[in-house]
Parts: sequence; C-alpha cells; structure tokens
Amino acid sequence: MGGLRRLEYRGYDSGGVAIVDTAATTPTIAWAKKAGKLANLQGVLDEQPLPPSSTGIGHTRWATHGAPNDVNAHPHLDADGRIAVVHNGIIENFAVLRAELEAEGHELVSETDTEVVAHLLHDELERTPDLGEAVRLVCRRLEGAFTLVIADAAQPDVVVGARRNSPLVVGRGDGENFLGSDVAAFIEYTRDAIELGQDQVVVITADDVEVTGFDGSPAEVTPYHVDWDVSAAEKGGYDWYMLKEIDEQPQAVADTLLGRHTPDGRLQLDEMRLSDDELREIDKIIIIACGTASYAGLVAKYAIEHWTRVPCEVELASEFRYRDPIIDPRTLVVAISQSGETMDTLMALRYARQQRARVLSICNTNGSTIPRESDAVIYTHAGPEIAVASTKGFLAQIVACYLLGLYLAQVKGTKYGDEIAAIIGELEKIPAGIQRMLDDAPRVRKLAADLVDARSVLFLGRHTGYPVALEGALKLKELAYLHAEGFAAGELKHGPIALIEEGVPVFVVVPPKARDQLQDKVVSNIQEVRSRGARTIVLVEDGDDDVLSAADEVIRLPKVPTLLQPLVATVPLQVFACELATLLGHDVDQPRNLAKSVTVE
Ligand code: F6R
Repeated sequence: MGGLRRLEYRGYDSGGVAIVDTAATTPTIAWAKKAGKLANLQGVLDEQPLPPSSTGIGHTRWATHGAPNDVNAHPHLDADGRIAVVHNGIIENFAVLRAELEAEGHELVSETDTEVVAHLLHDELERTPDLGEAVRLVCRRLEGAFTLVIADAAQPDVVVGARRNSPLVVGRGDGENFLGSDVAAFIEYTRDAIELGQDQVVVITADDVEVTGFDGSPAEVTPYHVDWDVSAAEKGGYDWYMLKEIDEQPQAVADTLLGRHTPDGRLQLDEMRLSDDELREIDKIIIIACGTASYAGLVAKYAIEHWTRVPCEVELASEFRYRDPIIDPRTLVVAISQSGETMDTLMALRYARQQRARVLSICNTNGSTIPRESDAVIYTHAGPEIAVASTKGFLAQIVACYLLGLYLAQVKGTKYGDEIAAIIGELEKIPAGIQRMLDDAPRVRKLAADLVDARSVLFLGRHTGYPVALEGALKLKELAYLHAEGFAAGELKHGPIALIEEGVPVFVVVPPKARDQLQDKVVSNIQEVRSRGARTIVLVEDGDDDVLSAADEVIRLPKVPTLLQPLVATVPLQVFACELATLLGHDVDQPRNLAKSVTVE
C-alpha cells in the first residue's frame, strides 16, 4: 500500500490490489478493490486482510473507460479468477476485441477496456502456457497506449509487465524486484531502476528481470540510479504537497541553473544533443505544451524572441497537429512537460518529428517518454512534483526556457557574451527574490481569508505579466473551483470589463517601472476597473508608488528585469489559490476531476 500511496497523485478515483495466495491448496488470486481514494481500499483491507504473499499487483485509477466505481476499479480478473490485470492508458480497439470475446461466450462484468486483456490472456494461456509469451502475443493485438501488469495464480513466482506509450519502470532489489509507473512506487526498497522501452515486455521474479520486445526478441535495457530519496517524495511536515512544493521553488530554480554555465557566464547544456550547426539553422521555434506548461511557454516566447530574434509561436499541444502547422527541418519544436508523459504533448511531438522538425523537450521527469522521444532535452531539476497543481515545475520550466533562449543567442551570436553573463547573473538572484515572496506569504494568506466569499476573481497583466495572470486564474480554478479568468490588460475594454461589478477582486501584475509606456497603460487599466467597483490587488515592484492610489491592496515584488518578473510574481498567486482552497475545505493536492499525469488525449 505504501507504494500505491506514493502513486496516488497519478489517479485516485479507485484503488485495488491482488496477490497470489500460495497458502491455498491450489494457488489462487485474492483481491480487494474499492472506489474512491486509497483510504477506502485500506478500510476494506483492514476489515478483511489478504493472506500474506510475495507476489502481488496494485493500482490506483483515473477513469477513462467506465465510471469510477468498485466494479471498474482494477485489478480485473479473467472468468476463472486465475489472472489479475492492472492497466494504465487506453486500449483503442477494445470494443472490437470485447465483441469478439462476447461472441465466443466470455462474460465481462465491467465497462473497462482492461478486462478485455484478462479474458484475452485467459484464452491465450490455454494455447501458450508461459505467461511472458502469452502477454507478448496479446499485446500484439492491442492498439493504443497501455501499461499492463499481470499476475497469474498458476505461475505464482512471476509478475509480467508490458508497455506501449504509457510509462513502466523496473526496480531492482536484492532478492526482490518491482514494477511501477514511476520510481516513487518502490523507492523505499530500491533506487536501482531500469526504464522499459516502447513495446517491451518484462518478466520479473524475485531474482531475475527479463526484458523482450513484443516480438520476443531480447531487448537492451538501460539501468539507472535514482537520486530521489523517500523523504524527497513525501510531504516533509507540510499539510499539502503543494505547500511544500511552493516552498521548494528557490531550490528548484537554483538547481535548474546549476552547472548550466561556466563562471564567466557561458552556457553549457549537457543534454543538448543538437549541434551548434543544427541550431544555427533554426529559423522558427514552436513551443507545444498543455495547461500551466503552456503558460511557461508563453512567458518564454517574450524572452526567446527578444534574445534570439527567432520567431517563436506557442501552441496548445492538443490543437497543434490538427491545424496543419508549417514545419520543416529548420523548425525547432520545444515540448514542455513536467511529467514527460502528457499524451497531448507526446502526440504533438511525434507529429512534429514526422514533419522532420527538430524536437527539444523541457522536462522534469528523467527517463519519461517525451524526453526519450526528443532530439534534445533540457531537464528541469525541480525534484518530484506530487501535488496535481504545478508550482515549482512551472518556475523551473520558465528557467529552462530561458537557458534555451540564452544558449541559442550564444550559438547564433544574437547576444554578446557579457550580455548573456549579465542575464545569468540576474537569474542567479531570483531564488532570493522568490524566498522574499515566500516570507511574505502570511499577508497573502490573510488576503485569501478576506476574499473567501468571492464568487469570481479576475487577473490582469501585460507583456510577461499576461501569462502570469493566466496562471493565477488557472490555479484558482483548479484548486478553489471558482470562476477565475486571466486577461491581457489591454483586452479589458474589448469585452471582459463587462464582468466587473461591485467588490469583484481583480489582481493586476504591473510591469516593472523600466517599461514606462506599458506601465502607464496598466495603471489606467487599474483605474478603469476600480472606478467600476472592483477591489484591486496590485502586484508591483519595490519603490514604484505610482499605482498606489488605485490599489486597494498591494503585494510588493522585488526589482527584477521585466523578462524575469514572472518568476517572482507567480508565487503570491500560487499561495493565494492554495490558501483559498484550504479555507474552502478542498483537497489541495488532489483537486476534483484532475490527474497529475494526463496520459490520454
Ligand atoms: C495545472 C497543471 C496542468 C499541467 C498540464 C501539463 O496546475 O499542472 O495544467 O501543467 O497538465 O502537464 P505536464 O507539464 O506534465 O505536461
């Protein structure tokens, strides 16, 4: 259960476990499953414990096929109760397979695509007694994305895993081996892991791990050592992972910068597998990402275009491949993903590669699918992000995008070395700026308490403050379940201003004073909403007092260059959303209807 709990962030609408009961006269599968969070499953197990066993599988689910209820919870068994299967992903041809099985007389009890696999395996094992081989044969009939883990009462010492598109990692212990969708599942037992490749099947016993392709050919595997320890993956004394992760942001930013430049400010990116010549050819950049990661991309656009003079578009990954985008080998497609498993982003990336673009990913999860399928990668070093709402992942993504922009500027010569070194110098001061915002969090929490009855909250920003406004609104929507919207402040008069009514809180991110013209315009925008009754909460840098007369509340920001301002301005908006959600009694780490890794399109 410990391993399952650490995976609960990946999905939590039901859970289940199955073990091979070897104490029975004939080994059988014993199982328990329950809708809701793992605490419900634990309740069932406390009342009716499963017999002790050294072979078992477990699952925590985020529903795709079939409602989140007890019957649809995994594991799924074949009709004889001999085989237990857990599954992540979607088997796209399951309806055809199910119809085939039903025509042959199989009775399926759930609405899931997973149960089909248990029944297919039942039939296959009659012809092919070896579980590994039977799984390989069944996998060849499946279409879509899947990670499968299977136990068979008739082969009690073996667990078999298979993966296509969805993640699966092997943990190598001493006299014990593990499978998990990520290393958090087994990190308390071992930090030695093996990543499974695409279309591979793994057969584990206590002492052995055997990996093959779906065709049975032996596969080369890449063992690696996991640096995260158990405590890094746990809450560390905070009420919510999100709070812990917000507080880890100075470290996440510092770690993402670490080792990426020489003392004199020359960029060096070890995982940049694209040569300088290849990078010099790039004449267009397209950033693809989803949700918060796409807002990191929007922030990056300002910096990348400014530093490199290369046009940079930002596109939602889910839209990208459906609009016939103009891509060629001189296009650099940048996929941003904290988890490295977001299916929309992965599919957009694959499309870009088919069109012969170069693909670079910015990712927080080592060994995940998106970086593995990219030509180059810049890892963010934020550590595991477990709260569903991204915080430290977002800031680290922005920093990694800056590193990319500066690296391109260095290679293409669009910035002098001393200019790049100066920007790096400013970036190195950012962790202290974030820390200051964290030290100021109690004031923001008090503000959340004052606004706890708000029914709608608006966020305005211009330039890099615009994506910050979008991110502030997204955090509030997903955590506090409130109507919240972010706007480019200049758009206000084109419609959204009609939303302003007496008492509506409006957060405004004011650009640094250095951007005089912009700043004046934002000040006018603040006055416009305030004169219509809005309660204005203004985020403005130290020493800038021009907006004070139009501000009901002021949140001070440290003085930083405009392009870097999102790294400090986002923090109070995260704190605000987290506090408001807590006050409203919501589960901050696992907001309703959401999952951390969205591995379906
Ligand atoms: C919001 C949030 C999501 C993710 C999005 C992409 O707080 O976390 O919007 O940013 O689902 O996820 P990744 O970065 O894992 O691709």
